[in-house]
Amino acid sequence: MINENNKTEKKFFSLKNKYKPKAGSVMLLRPYLLTCIVTCITGFSIYAQRKIITVNASQIKATVQPTMWGVFFEDINMGADGGIYAELVKNRSFEFYRPMMGWKVLGKPVTEGDFLVMNRQKLDSANPRFLHITLHNNRRGSIGLNNEGFRGMGIKNNLGYDFSVMYRQSSPGAKMYIELVNEKGENIGGTAVATTATGEEWKKTTASFTATATVPKASMNIWFEGDGTIDLDMICLFPKDTWKNRPGGMRADMIQMLADMKPGFIRFPGGCIVEGFDLSQRYQWKKTIGPIEERQLIVNRWNFEFAHRPTPDYFQTFGLGFFEYFQLAEDIGAEPLPILNAGMACQFNSAELVPLDQLDPYIQDALDLIEFANGDATTRWGKVRAGMGHPAPFNMKMMGVGNENWGPQYVERLKLFTKAIKEKYPAIKLINSSGTDPAGERFDYLNGELRKMNADIIDEHYYRRPEWFLENASRYDNYDRNGSKVFAGEYAAQSDKTVSVNNRNNWQTAIAEAAFMTGMERNADVVYMASYAPLFANADGWQWTPDMIWVNNLQTYGTPNYYVQKLFSLNKGTNVVPLLENNKPLAGQDSLYASATIDKNTNELIVKLVNASARVQNRDIQVDGVKKLNEEAILTILKGGELDDMNSFGQPDKVIPGEQKLKLKGKKISLSLTPYSFTIVRVKMS
Ligand code: AHR
Repeated sequence: MINENNKTEKKFFSLKNKYKPKAGSVMLLRPYLLTCIVTCITGFSIYAQRKIITVNASQIKATVQPTMWGVFFEDINMGADGGIYAELVKNRSFEFYRPMMGWKVLGKPVTEGDFLVMNRQKLDSANPRFLHITLHNNRRGSIGLNNEGFRGMGIKNNLGYDFSVMYRQSSPGAKMYIELVNEKGENIGGTAVATTATGEEWKKTTASFTATATVPKASMNIWFEGDGTIDLDMICLFPKDTWKNRPGGMRADMIQMLADMKPGFIRFPGGCIVEGFDLSQRYQWKKTIGPIEERQLIVNRWNFEFAHRPTPDYFQTFGLGFFEYFQLAEDIGAEPLPILNAGMACQFNSAELVPLDQLDPYIQDALDLIEFANGDATTRWGKVRAGMGHPAPFNMKMMGVGNENWGPQYVERLKLFTKAIKEKYPAIKLINSSGTDPAGERFDYLNGELRKMNADIIDEHYYRRPEWFLENASRYDNYDRNGSKVFAGEYAAQSDKTVSVNNRNNWQTAIAEAAFMTGMERNADVVYMASYAPLFANADGWQWTPDMIWVNNLQTYGTPNYYVQKLFSLNKGTNVVPLLENNKPLAGQDSLYASATIDKNTNELIVKLVNASARVQNRDIQVDGVKKLNEEAILTILKGGELDDMNSFGQPDKVIPGEQKLKLKGKKISLSLTPYSFTIVRVKMS
């Protein structure tokens, strides 16, 4: 679907672009001398033959779904533990494969058995291990524990911290003190912890204090004093500045990045994590709700998935579970989209299958989840939700069955799920997987089968080179308008290749995604939802790149890809209107890509244009179907100086959107599109 012009640009596009326009407006663009000469030479002819784009603002082609642009969350790259879950203590309940991972004994124990990892020996315990500590008339500072946190603990000066621990002791002989220390071991805040209760029952004690310094990689000491024994479990430390100040909640700076996007939906909990390496490691939502000490930890599949990026300390505590995901969706105004296991473990790994005649518990999990999310407090699972503090339903409208599953095995299982769910909850829309790739035998087979089944929404994934995104901007132009709808559930342009550690979130990938997204928007009657993947990456603990938002213990930054996603979401509009050049959608001619919507609520026209070429391109947009346009339009422009430009902790604002005003004459919008730029025009109509 690319013309000759486009082929030339494509070639250029893949070269390193050395053109470097100054930051600023398109009207005040002061490019480098060479470009200036080129522009001057060709300027007269360009001016003479400014090409015309037509937009008809009253010809509605499609409704843009409120869910159109959303986010995909998976606990990969330390996205949950060590990421949005604000817990600072790693291995808080000693349930990692190595029970003392993350912990160090401080001082010199008197006997071998002074620090013992015990196991409750109760078969039904979700949290069997605890630490048994024996003291011998110890003075404060002589014996203790240190927790290293998730690649250190990010501590902020003057911020309050909440410590808690479950403990039990037969006599009140042990005293505890906690302190945070910087990399040199110097105290940056702490307090005494009351441990006065005695008896067989586990008690929770809490203590709060304020930190006295900002340290990106601090750690926590627990010092013991006195005589006798004490058992400890669930040793937690949370900052007070969590999202919505919820105790034991989420990292506010990371969640704010999502809230700022106003996403239409949030998909959770993944990704391959839904499937698990084998079925024992699949995601089971029922084990992620209720009191946190009763949520059973399992290994994170990304712990060992890539031999070149091992993360041996990556586990899932499920402190962040399905209740919290639903609550998060509600907080940020996104539709919740849970994805459930289809009775199949990851087909790249063990490919374990649940026999068809034993699938009932899996299907029951799906039915129960709908009741958990939507049932009133008189239902079994609605009552559980209400007991967790949310009596009102979450009003879930859709659910996914399976992630990147393929083959007839998937279809057989999916049919059983679909029958049971549709019988009981006909209004719930089901998302079905079309496998791992956007083309090929597996995709063709599944796409055919799912369409025969009248699937509500088909989940397509594409991790491809930037060129693929440009070449496929027309992908959905010829899709069946009346059949199943599409969820572009995971996509990201790969600057190198899928799973390569050399992939970068550079401007080249972001602009290619923007070009492709104009094609999704143009086809909003087919594409109902889309989300970039993965969402978060911890700079010190990632397995997969590229990722939309990068974080360390104290900072976050959005990549150029983040700003593309955010701009599409914030400038969604309500209805697609036609945008044509020479009677054709603009999908690669002269390396330009464009789409147009109107917003019926604000009565605005919104035009998105991507110039994926190395030259300034001039276009006049002739707007029909309106009486008048406002005299001034707002332009939002996202551009990089070079295709390999990236944001970073040091330079988080290198590629970010800028705004400017543009005077209009009548119903014409005259644009001068900067090389390698993404421009959004918003103008009031009357
Ligand atoms: O986004 C990372 C992974 O890519 C997802 O877990 C999986 O669905 C896909 O293969």
